[in-house]
Amino acid sequence: MKTVAIVGSPRKEGNCDLLVKALCEKIDGDVESFFLNDLDLQFCDACLSCQEGDCIKADDIRKIIDKILEADLLILSSPIYYGHITAQLKTLIDRFYQVTRNPNKSFEGVKVIEIVTQSNPSDIYDYYIEYLNKTAIEFVGMEVIETIFARNASDKGQGIETALEEIENLEINI
Ligand SMILES: Cc1cc2nc3c(=O)[nH]c(=O)nc-3n(C[C@H](O)[C@H](O)[C@H](O)COP(=O)(O)O)c2cc1C
Repeated sequence: MKTVAIVGSPRKEGNCDLLVKALCEKIDGDVESFFLNDLDLQFCDACLSCQEGDCIKADDIRKIIDKILEADLLILSSPIYYGHITAQLKTLIDRFYQVTRNPNKSFEGVKVIEIVTQSNPSDIYDYYIEYLNKTAIEFVGMEVIETIFARNASDKGQGIETALEEIENLEINI
């Protein structure tokens, strides 16, 4: 099994980072993690060159997308920043366009596990994540099999106990 794990938080050893590491430890096979904030991330220019071939931006995102295209499982993580995912993760998602516009490429069959961290203790952002799944993650052909929320999580490693337990009990059948 091939897994690609994305840490969308800029905070090293932060809540996303810790939860993604815990999840990756459970997964058999080939697991490759990317800490987006450390990478060369360029925005989609909407040039549509991807309709004819590869994306013209030879940055780190293109390398990640090539890995996702070969993956069985994609782990996406982000803290909530002002009610949204981080700009780093949104930049990666926008670049999915190079796959959806290219008739020779597809994300069909890629399963996704999401990790969302937030300081708010309520389920106030659940509808936003559902919306994001419908309009982006599932829209591009992936299948979300699990979303793990760490609510009431602020400082590094604080408030993630329930999410760690969920990861511990997660059965991944791919
Ligand atoms: C710029 C910024 C904006 C934030 N906005 C929100 C927010 O709108 N709602 C919320 O519940 N938490 C918000 N937070 C808190 C983070 O989502 C929370 O601390 C999260 O656990 C951080 O995860 P990390 O350690 O993986 O970065 C914000 C934090 C930052 C730095």
